[in-house]
Amino acid sequence: MTTIAAAEPTRRDFLFVATGAVGAIGAAATLVPLIAQMNPDASTIAAGAPIEVDLTPIAEGQIVKVFWRGKPIYISHRTKKEIEEAEDVPLSSLPDPQPDKDRVKPGHDQWLVVIGICTHLGCIPLAHQGDYGGWFCPCHGSQYDTSGRIRRGPAPANLALPPYAFLSDSKIQIG
Ligand code: FES
Repeated sequence: MTTIAAAEPTRRDFLFVATGAVGAIGAAATLVPLIAQMNPDASTIAAGAPIEVDLTPIAEGQIVKVFWRGKPIYISHRTKKEIEEAEDVPLSSLPDPQPDKDRVKPGHDQWLVVIGICTHLGCIPLAHQGDYGGWFCPCHGSQYDTSGRIRRGPAPANLALPPYAFLSDSKIQIG
């Protein structure tokens, strides 16, 4: 099992910003820190070993990115408002109808964990972007909401959910 340790709260560790065709972004809320992966055995990670992520340093309203099986995984610590927005959307208005409660774990609805690969042609969407407060894919303009569900654009499906489980209230295992 590979362990991902939480980043120390230094600026240096919070250095990864989602890249894309978007220029300079001013708001700190749009930064997507990459949690430091302390285990150096990248081949183990690439081979698909489960990873553990300590959620403690992820502030409410923050989205971080980790990698599992070479895929970007976004972990969103949703605010009450973001949860309510996700729950209040009529399913009939969704291109890929799925209730928010089916996309989170019971009792942990503040945590959304999604695979950060656009379901259109596989670009990596940008977090906290777009008209729905979730993700925006700069490649062809798909927009996802705070539940990672497709709301507008050419993507045919919601952001996929990786297999994961809560080991405790503050730790998940992905894979
Ligand atoms: S790959 Fe995301 S909109 Fe086309």
